[in-house]
Amino acid sequence: MPQPTSLLITGAYSGLGREVLRLAFQAGFDVTSLVRTPAQASELTETYPGIRCLPCDLGCAEAVSATLHELKSSYFAHVLFCAGTGQVGAFEALAPETLHTTLQVNLLSIMQMVHGLLQPDAMCPGKITLVSSLMATLPAGQAVTYAVSKAGLSHFYRSLKQAQPALPLLCLEIGAVNTPMHAKAGNTVSRRGFKSPQKMGQKIFAAMLRQHGLRTLSPEWALLRLLQRLRP
Ligand SMILES: NC(=O)c1ccc[n+]([C@@H]2O[C@H](COP(=O)([O-])OP(=O)(O)OC[C@H]3O[C@@H](n4cnc5c(N)ncnc54)[C@H](OP(=O)(O)O)[C@@H]3O)[C@@H](O)[C@H]2O)c1
Repeated sequence: MPQPTSLLITGAYSGLGREVLRLAFQAGFDVTSLVRTPAQASELTETYPGIRCLPCDLGCAEAVSATLHELKSSYFAHVLFCAGTGQVGAFEALAPETLHTTLQVNLLSIMQMVHGLLQPDAMCPGKITLVSSLMATLPAGQAVTYAVSKAGLSHFYRSLKQAQPALPLLCLEIGAVNTPMHAKAGNTVSRRGFKSPQKMGQKIFAAMLRQHGLRTLSPEWALLRLLQRLRP
């Protein structure tokens, strides 16, 4: 069992983030979690007594700024960016707000927070873990904006790592998992073959504690990506 330590996590209200929160809570971590609404914050603090929960709409740059200010001078051994929003449908049919929100939540809010974390007078993170997707490199005609946001996130990882090789950074590119994200995005494809959120949550938690670099936790999807690359 890992030694109790501190964790700042986004997206902990549902899906993979919630699984990681549950595991961290069981392991005795000192958890601070960012969730979308005050009601979600109340529910999580009732379910997991002792954790700190701050409402923060990551779709709003001003809210992210205010949260960074609130967390100033805190120290977290681990910061896990798990929040994300899905998007399906033809690119031209997207509402302009969806385009903006997808990029804001999945990419810009994370860049904004990492930028804040790296300031000399900031909360000073230990290790930073980003949750990206295999769609970062797979063509995704029905999820163009989502794929672009994740490609941006993985490229953010690579570029930051080049600039600061000693920075403790992990970027996880994962394949399809059966979480509420798909229904929220209106994705009606069959989820047969999608991974279990419990198992993927365990893998993310273990990777967060032990791994560095750019990793995939979905080898079978990584093979699909390789085949796509080899296609003329
Ligand atoms: N599931 C997959 O197949 C899959 C595959 C590859 C990568 N991923 C990535 O894995 C991560 C976790 O996703 P998941 O599958 O666990 O989906 P999920 O169950 O929908 O969880 C995503 C979390 O992010 C939160 N979130 C979304 N927009 C937010 C906002 N504006 N402000 C604050 N919080 C917000 C959601 O809050 P609400 O509950 O209020 O919506 C939710 O708690 C995401 O980064 C996703 O892109 C997922």
